[in-house]
Amino acid sequence: MTDQTITSVSREHRKFRPSAEFKAQANLGSEAAYKKLYAESVNSPEKFWGRQATEQLVWRKPFTKVLDWKSPHAKWFVGGKLNVSENCLDRHLGTYRENKAALIFEGEPGDVRTITYKQLHFHVCRLAHIFENMGVGAGDRVAIYLPMIPEAVMAMLACARVGAIHTVIFGGFSAEAIKDRINDCKAKLVITADGGWRRGKVIELKANVDKAIEGTPTVQTVIVVKRCGNPVTMVEGRDVWWREAWEGAPNTHKAKAFDSEHPLFILYTSGSTGKPKGVLHTSAGYLLGTKLSAHYVFDLKENDRYFCSADIGWITGHSYVVYGLLANGATIFLYEGAPNQPEADRFWQMIDRHGITILYTAPTAIRAFMRWGDNYVLRHHLTSLRLLGSVGEPINPEAWMWYYNMIGKKRCPIVDTWWQTETGAIMITPLPGITPLKPGSGTWPFFGVVAKVVDEHGKEVPRNTGGKLVLTKPWPSMLRTLWGDDDRYQKAYWSEVPGVYFTGDGARQDKDGYFWIVGRIDDVLNISGHRIGTAEIESALVSHPSVAEAAAVGRPDELKGQSLVVFVTLKSGQTPSDELKEQLRNHVGKEIGSLAKPDHIRFAAGLPKTRSGKIMRRILKEIAGGGAIKGDTTTLEDFSVVASLQQEE
Ligand code: WT7
Repeated sequence: MTDQTITSVSREHRKFRPSAEFKAQANLGSEAAYKKLYAESVNSPEKFWGRQATEQLVWRKPFTKVLDWKSPHAKWFVGGKLNVSENCLDRHLGTYRENKAALIFEGEPGDVRTITYKQLHFHVCRLAHIFENMGVGAGDRVAIYLPMIPEAVMAMLACARVGAIHTVIFGGFSAEAIKDRINDCKAKLVITADGGWRRGKVIELKANVDKAIEGTPTVQTVIVVKRCGNPVTMVEGRDVWWREAWEGAPNTHKAKAFDSEHPLFILYTSGSTGKPKGVLHTSAGYLLGTKLSAHYVFDLKENDRYFCSADIGWITGHSYVVYGLLANGATIFLYEGAPNQPEADRFWQMIDRHGITILYTAPTAIRAFMRWGDNYVLRHHLTSLRLLGSVGEPINPEAWMWYYNMIGKKRCPIVDTWWQTETGAIMITPLPGITPLKPGSGTWPFFGVVAKVVDEHGKEVPRNTGGKLVLTKPWPSMLRTLWGDDDRYQKAYWSEVPGVYFTGDGARQDKDGYFWIVGRIDDVLNISGHRIGTAEIESALVSHPSVAEAAAVGRPDELKGQSLVVFVTLKSGQTPSDELKEQLRNHVGKEIGSLAKPDHIRFAAGLPKTRSGKIMRRILKEIAGGGAIKGDTTTLEDFSVVASLQQEE
């Protein structure tokens, strides 16, 4: 973390309080009630969570114990049984919500579908029968590789219904990345589409799956949604069209009850070493965490139309498109495509067209909107909006102010929500009817969350001092382990400061107790709100026949937060060229996906290393950023490597 960021944010003294109108209608608008509830949540967490779980969730069998905590392994709501899809769907049937829109979908070409809770229930029930007929049931893994279309939501809920564990793979990932994920979790079924629309073009999803499953012995069946009508190859006996499988299956399905700790999904995310981590979330605690946070943080009301622009392939899509929102009986809006298709006002047009009341998006998108210009925004009214949210990376105060003024018209509170794939639910966030907002700060911990900023010995640092962000108490939606690698789970999260959860983020708490997240302190980059491990990019590069060694670092970027710079040394006999740069970019695209394609490639005769041979990324970062080399270089094995790198560009 850089001191520069710390000083620049500490100059931010503006405070924005919720308006009297907002406060009056808020799900939580009284400071006294908030203080009481927060105090209970951290002082008597079992009482707090036990009551919430009983009130918020539909149980088939009540739990007997709130928490069984053998650090770092938690079991929440021990002895209880429920079904997550029943909690998202069946519970709303037979109520006034039955014919309410569960989702409103708009495809990139402009096609619109509205699906009520009852209809969504039909679809999910049918799919659950299809799964069971295929022999897919409790504990089986199902990979979902779909565009942002209603079928993605249906597929997730149908897995939950039969107790299968889904792993959603973002549509931007390549065949290689799909293969690795499927093999890691040994998925039996894959659900995909012929294609998805993105910037007016078809992304050929089925073709990527075909390539991936050449190398995945466990996959028996592929269900294919027809979305774009592009030609695909269907393999007899393995591939079936969704529509055909679905025809004739019954509309009702008796959901089985599963243990509170039954695994719900695995979601792969980048870590600082080697392969992606399969973050495992389980049923009751995850559902409670996402449901309760969605209710309070988004101040959900029955007539809200909620739009989260995150893809279903990321945790935000899991928690705050699907589970947290449907469990609350909300109406979610799904958009398939790019925000600048056909023009840069697509979001604002859709907000007006569908009367969206809550928008939850990422700073990288906000910065792109700013760059595209106010005129696109000013074409539309945006009067339906009442609340805005931000997630994925720190939001710079200028972008916050623009979002507040230009999109929210100074009427809408902004909830800047800090959390992670691992935390499952929002951890640090304003409550919109309570918290005075400071642009750029995630403000205060949510219910049940105790966050601290500590030094390298795990000791809490004084206010206004940077350090590592840790969470000291287990929480219901926490990850339970890493799929197939509990050692790595313990090492990555619970050993930095023994017994407490280490987030991997740097942070500072100001004199008012507000948290300011500074960014990752491990070897993980945050590019356009997506976590990308430097190690994965490096190993992709090294797998290219011309590359001897590679190091990936981030460089501050106005639009993307960080841009990806890679330093590459070539094998002897290989000559640097622009053509080779392009080849390497495409190679990374093929190995991981286009989201990981480097922005800049620099060829280097050598990389700066310590005497023990460890690449000194700190120095490369400084070179990439064009700054002077600060700090200690005495451990460098050969300083001339650095000197020549500095001359080169
Ligand atoms: C990392 C988690 C959580 C959903 C999206 C990303 C960064 C996330 C914020 C925020 C500052 C943030 C952190 C975190 N981050 N939200 N509001 N302010 N930083 O999930 O891919 O698991 O990444 O994103 O660095 O550790 P993820």
